[in-house]
Formats: sequence, C-alpha cells, structure tokens
Amino acid sequence: MKRQRISDLLARPEAGGDVDIAGWVRTKRDSKEIVFLNVNDGSNLAGIQVVVPRDAACFEDARKLTTGASVAVSGRLVDSPGGKQRFEILASGLRIYGLADPATYPIQKKKITLEYLREVAHLRPRTNTFGAVFRVRNTAADAVHRFFQERGFVWIHTPIITSADAEGAGELFRVTVLDPASPPRMDDGRVDYREDFFGRETYLTVSGQLAVENFCSALGNVYTFGPTFRAENSNTTRHLAEFWMIEPEMAFADIHDDMDLAEEFLKYIIAVVLRDRAEDMSFLAERYDPELLPRLEHILASTFARITYTEAVEILERSGRPFQFPVRWGMDLQTEHERYLCEEHFMGPVIVTDYPMEIKAFYMKQNDDGKTVRAMDILFPGVGEIVGGSQREDDLEKLVSRMRALGMREETYWWYLDLRRYGTHPHCGFGLGFERLVQFLTGMSNIRDVIPFPRTPKNADF
Ligand code: 4AD
Ligand code: MG
Repeated sequence: MKRQRISDLLARPEAGGDVDIAGWVRTKRDSKEIVFLNVNDGSNLAGIQVVVPRDAACFEDARKLTTGASVAVSGRLVDSPGGKQRFEILASGLRIYGLADPATYPIQKKKITLEYLREVAHLRPRTNTFGAVFRVRNTAADAVHRFFQERGFVWIHTPIITSADAEGAGELFRVTVLDPASPPRMDDGRVDYREDFFGRETYLTVSGQLAVENFCSALGNVYTFGPTFRAENSNTTRHLAEFWMIEPEMAFADIHDDMDLAEEFLKYIIAVVLRDRAEDMSFLAERYDPELLPRLEHILASTFARITYTEAVEILERSGRPFQFPVRWGMDLQTEHERYLCEEHFMGPVIVTDYPMEIKAFYMKQNDDGKTVRAMDILFPGVGEIVGGSQREDDLEKLVSRMRALGMREETYWWYLDLRRYGTHPHCGFGLGFERLVQFLTGMSNIRDVIPFPRTPKNADF
C-alpha cells in the first residue's frame, strides 16, 4: 500500500481525492451510528480525524479499535465541519495491524506525568509531548549540519573509542574485553592492558576536540557532531552520561571569531526551529512554559553580553546576594552564579571569557597575565552553561609545560603535540551540548526528556 503522510494531507490546498494513511489510534469516540478516531502517524502533532459511518463496510472493525492500536485507513479527504482542523478522512476501508489491550496499555489518554513516562520510555514517543520534542530535536540536528555546510565547514567523523582523555578530567568509561573476574596482571599486580583488545587502555570519548583540531590543521574549518560519554556522577536535570556534542574548530581564528560563530550558530538553530516546527513549539509552550516563545524570540533579537570572568566575579560580589557558594576569584562559577548573571543581571545570554587557568582544560591558550586562559563559556537563562569553548594553545613549549604541570603523559598525546611542531597556527573551537540546546528549545526542564533513552548514574534501561 502506498500511504500518504498525514502532515502532507493537511497541507493540501483543498479537500477531495482518495487517500491512504497508517498510524496509531490516539482516541476513539463511538456510538451506534458513527465512530470517530484520531489517528497519528508521527508526521505531525494533531494527527487526523477519521470518521467511520455506520454504513461503511469497516464499521464493526472500527468499533474494535482502542488507544494504541495500529491501523491503515483508506477513504476520502473531506472538509472537517468541526473546524478544529481543516480536513478529516471519511473512511471506506480499514485494516487493523495490531490491537492494544486497554487493560494494560501504559499510555492511556488520562494525564500522565513525565516521571512516569520515563519508566515507559519505549512508548513515550506516542505522546504529544515526546512526538513534539523529537521532531524539534530532528529539525535542530538537521539545522546544525545546514549551518556548517552552508559555511564550508567539513564534517569529520571523530572516533568513539579513544586512548586520550580530551578534557583531562578523568571522567572516562573504560573500553575493555578483558575478563573482569581474572584479567591478566603484570608483576606488580596491576591489570596488563597490553593483553587487551587494542593492546592498551582505551575509553569512550569525552569529546571529539583533539581529533577535530588535527583535521582543522589541514582542512581549515571543520566540525564533529556525535555522541560523547562522561562517567561523571552528577544526578542533575542538566547532566547525562551519554550526550551528543557539536564541536566546530576554526583555523587561523581567535576567541572573538569563536564567540561570533557560536552566537550566530545558536540564533540560526532557534530561528529554524521556530519557523519549521511552529505547531510543535506552540504545543510545548502551551503545555509547559508560556514564556517559551517570547524567550526564544528575545534571544534572536538580543546581542549576547560579553564579559571576562574577572568582571563576572565583580558583578556577583557587588550583587550582595547570599549565594550558597560564596564568590571568590579562582572558583568555578556555580549554577546559581550563572543564573544570576543571565537571568537577573543581563536578562539574556552571557559569554564569559578568560577564566582562571587552574579551573580549565590543559589545551586552552594562556594569556600574558600568567593566570587566565582564552576560554569562553556561553550561559543561557534557565540552562546555565550551554557552550564551552576556547582558543587553543598553539605554542608547543607552553602546552607541554601545562601538561607536565597537570601530570599528563606526553607520549599519549604525541600526535596532538605534532600539530604544534609542524605548521602551528592560531585556532579555536567550542562544544555545544546538543541536549542542553534541545532543552532550551523545547522548555523541557529535565534533560532526560530530550534524548530517546537517557543514560544517567544507575540507569541504562532500554
Ligand atoms: O565544556 P565542555 O566539557 O567542553 C568540551 O568538551 C570541549 N572539548 C569543547 C570544545 O571546545 N570543543 O563541554 C561542552 C558542552 C557543555 O557546555 C555542555 O553544554 C555540554 O557540552 N555538556 C554536557 N551535556 C550533558 N551532559 C553532560 N554531562 C555534559 N557535559 C558537558
Ligand atoms: Mg565546560
């Protein structure tokens, strides 16, 4: 059967013609005379109303249907008298693929909480909320590629399995095929990873940055967009153990170019989602967050504030707020500080630059003051840090001395250091946490609700 997408049918200029659809029943109302179904095929939020009159051959079949059943419908596309949507289908034929027992089907029409839906994450895409979230996520992902492709950035497929800790933060998931009960051991008792699959210790990547830096040193402007993994024991509404990250890297560019790119990029994605997913966005705004659309529009109209870390600390000190973590120069900004800066002081996005060297990764370019590095974090209202980036240290000696100070093994990073030995150049990049962006776009307050199957401490169900 050649079926049509419901969203395409509803976009037609006028009613008329024979149509075929297939999807899942969301609701059914029936009487002795008529059955009304709402069928959803995932192509839009509202689905389409199907009307089965008593004289239709499929009337008795239609009465058997319940929420969750899968069905194909053929009929005529007619104007909908109710006015809730433009068209409906007057059914003449109906094929039931699978019924869904109303006694046990977990996604009934009644109000269900997001917490409950996480326990049935395999079925939650069948709700209005998750249909909307995942269509928005798809549109945003597509816009990511469009943005970079339109600007000549080359997409690099960076490896998932790595031997280097790109962030130097030690939050690595180990990759091994050794038997945990009796691994081969060296004389001193430590596990002998030379016997392991790769002949060395390997991990899931925490960031594709080191790999895109390599390709940046040849192809100019590049980016990666893929899954990253952090064994970070943070049980918050903003942290996942497996999340997707977008990491561009630009050659012969500095931190100002980096900030310009990030700001343009974020606005581009927001504009595309507002334009192309209007129905889903209105639903999410209505259901969860009446400020959602004005907040996104405000971002498009605003210029991101740009301040140094030192200025941020001064603003926070002057605020007179009784922060849970008292502010002092040298500390990492906590969520409460980030929120104060963008939600109360600047009332919009803020880019904070030139953080203390001690709290940032080894690869960031050192400033002449000997204390700070060319980092830039973008803070968003509600979400906090959404982007983390920097200009990279391109001076071999400075980079090596920083790595030594941090106790990092130069041998592991020899190939990364080669970039500074042969034709080094200024370059910069950033990482955007894709789920944090989707959270901001959809107004969902928990990051577990914007990824299909969230991986968090003590949870890898589904
Ligand atoms: O600030 P991070 O750690 O920076 C990097 O990984 C750099 N290598 C990026 C670069 O310069 N190429 O992470 C970047 C972003 C954060 O700003 C945040 O949005 C997101 O990744 N992120 C997480 N998102 C969800 N769950 C987590 N556990 C995350 N950790 C970071
Ligand atoms: Mg960061």
